[in-house]
Amino acid sequence: MLGDTSFAIHPGKEKKVDAVVYRDIGNLVDVEKTGAAYFFQCVNGKVAIQFYTDAIIRVTMNQKQKPALNHSKAVIVEPQLVEVEEHDTEEVLILKSTKLELHIEKQPCRIKVLDPQGRVLVSEDKHGMAYRENGEVIAFKQMKENDHFYGFGEKSGHLNKRGERLEMWNTDVYAPHNPETNALYESIPYFMTLRDGNAHGIFFDNTFRTFFDMKTSEEYYSFSAEGGQLDYYVMVGPHPKMVLEQYTYLTGRMPLPPKWSLGYHQSRYSYETEAEVRELAQNFIDKNIPVDVIHLDIHYMNGYRVFTFDKERFPNPEKLIADLKEMGIRVVPIVDPGVKKDSEYPIYQEGVREDNFCKYIEGDIYYGEVWPGASAFPDFTEERVRKWWGDKHAFYTSIGIEGIWNDMNEPAVFNETKTMDVEVMHRNDGNPTTHRELHNVYGLLMGKATYEGMKDNLQGKRPFLLTRAGYAGVQRYGSVWTGDNRSFWEHLQMSLPMVMNLGLSGVAFTGPDVGGFAHDTNAELLTRWTQVGAFTPFFRNHSAIGFRYQEPWQFGEKYEAIMKKYIQMRYVWMPQLYSLFYQASKQGLPVMRPLLMEYPDDVKTYNINDQFMIGDNVIMAPILNPAVTDRAVYLPEGDWVEFSTGASYEGEKVHLIHAELEDLPIFVRKGSAIMQGEWSSNQDKQTKTLTMNVYASSNEESYSFTFYDDDGESFAYENGEFLKLDLEIQSSADKIEINVVEKEGSYQPSYREIKIELVGATNQSVFVNGAESKRITL
Ligand code: GLC
Repeated sequence: MLGDTSFAIHPGKEKKVDAVVYRDIGNLVDVEKTGAAYFFQCVNGKVAIQFYTDAIIRVTMNQKQKPALNHSKAVIVEPQLVEVEEHDTEEVLILKSTKLELHIEKQPCRIKVLDPQGRVLVSEDKHGMAYRENGEVIAFKQMKENDHFYGFGEKSGHLNKRGERLEMWNTDVYAPHNPETNALYESIPYFMTLRDGNAHGIFFDNTFRTFFDMKTSEEYYSFSAEGGQLDYYVMVGPHPKMVLEQYTYLTGRMPLPPKWSLGYHQSRYSYETEAEVRELAQNFIDKNIPVDVIHLDIHYMNGYRVFTFDKERFPNPEKLIADLKEMGIRVVPIVDPGVKKDSEYPIYQEGVREDNFCKYIEGDIYYGEVWPGASAFPDFTEERVRKWWGDKHAFYTSIGIEGIWNDMNEPAVFNETKTMDVEVMHRNDGNPTTHRELHNVYGLLMGKATYEGMKDNLQGKRPFLLTRAGYAGVQRYGSVWTGDNRSFWEHLQMSLPMVMNLGLSGVAFTGPDVGGFAHDTNAELLTRWTQVGAFTPFFRNHSAIGFRYQEPWQFGEKYEAIMKKYIQMRYVWMPQLYSLFYQASKQGLPVMRPLLMEYPDDVKTYNINDQFMIGDNVIMAPILNPAVTDRAVYLPEGDWVEFSTGASYEGEKVHLIHAELEDLPIFVRKGSAIMQGEWSSNQDKQTKTLTMNVYASSNEESYSFTFYDDDGESFAYENGEFLKLDLEIQSSADKIEINVVEKEGSYQPSYREIKIELVGATNQSVFVNGAESKRITL
């Protein structure tokens, strides 16, 4: 291929690109209010404005007709009744809520969003909303010198996306995942802008192929789509956490996951036989290495037919699953959307008979080549089909399976375009349209079908879903892993900003394939990656066919011991992590976050890619390079204590930290606390002793947090069976006061008290609810 040599950049090859001409929306000529929505007639199109809350507005532009306001696949709420003050003059219409001001200039139509202090957040000047004759729609917004851009779902590269042009088109990328490979498996057309410590968000709710351009100009950025309406929401923050709460208010939050899904997952493409899986499980037991889940990749099926087992390789899946469960291990099988074209295969027969597959407009089923060969694809855009597919999961739940792994749901097809023909039709619950429009939501809707089907079938147990593809709102159904990475140090490095940006995009439960999927891993890389994995929200070691096996014991005892220590540590930290997952389910805040989320006033945090936070008080600074045992760590405001050494470090400084292969530098903020359980065994993973490690500060300081626990697997928490403690820690020179500000719920955990341990050699007295004590009795 010539493109692989320098010939690709031969001066004579430069392409002349014709200037793209957009038609501007033009002057505003008429305003009409219907219910709570404002409709503007402009010379070249129509615009609707709605207040969703007093902090969220929605703008919808349609160049042809009155904007349609009811077609979102992502937004799950209706607009609230918001009190809006109106001022109308010749030049501008001002709409004001308590949290934002909207200035709609009329000649030409230009929209500005301001905060209550009058600061401009989002604005248009020379360019505003526009479109092209080919259907493309675009919005240009002014870009300020100190704008930093985050979110955008699953993207390679660094945290801050200023200077990038990003594309959203769900794509199966086996290779490469380079910094410039930006269309990956998930499309989350949402971002947050951080400017001088204040943040706001924009969600561009358009399911066509979309682009975000923070590269072409230094004066403005744009977001555009190949078709559909220009439909976007502005969330005014101003704190990054508020922006995310506002965005996840619109698109939903993750359900509380089953606790077992927060444990360690072991996977391989593929563990190919029942005997291999049993041996694998036994190894974990014998070595006392924690594992909660073993994944079954495509080889478990009969000829890659979903909803089947290969009876030669897996003669008795039910017994296998029951035996593993006794050992404390669950099995999660892969389920892809492609249904093998095979007239003797019941799922295919039923799908054809009941008209459940995607078809061309002329009526022919669309077939694409995937693992089973020519396959048909269920039309998940139709409620009836989702129900059919969901119900089919009784096949799995009836033999004790509680979790499903959805893959290839972009959908991936082995052809030039990597996906289904864009002219294939979707029924779309009565509004038929093409795959061009719904490609980016195919995975989301498969996730919905699977999650809801599993939930029904499990009758009161929480399902777990892992999905590769998705759209905004995917957090409502599944956790997301970042697809086919490689065993490169660069991919370990890149996984941090990737997972943090997913977290900033509302998807809290994510992680990469630990150790790297393709390419051969090595002892050091796997060890360092496992240290990071112990603290990424989703923790799964997965590797590809044809490459080195990478279970924690594959590289000898020295490495095994270190990996075991960190996998066990995951379980020691489980009470802390579970409380953070609870927070994610309630407020949409990520478990793993960039420092800027907690320290938005500290510009030094704005592009830290190689450190991350767990919650609001713990900073992880892993080693991400081979043979390196020292690294620079930036600690923001406050005083910090290194978790394993107990050494104190001053904030707002860069420190050089030493970390041998067995060390992962972890810093806890003084004045705060973390909840710690213990590791017992695979068969018994319940926390029996709960300890609150208080990182004593001798300064006057106060810290609040919520501890949450429940049975970890049922929905009984919906009926009050949980334990929720709002805790407050007041530090001062001579005493530490711990107060249970509020206790809620009726759940009785097996531990009956919380032991309090002061970390750091201080001799302050400890008071619990006013009385000197070192325990909180439950
Ligand atoms: C895809 C998935 C990978 C899986 C493989 C086989 O490449 O991303 O995780 O192992 O398919 O199913």
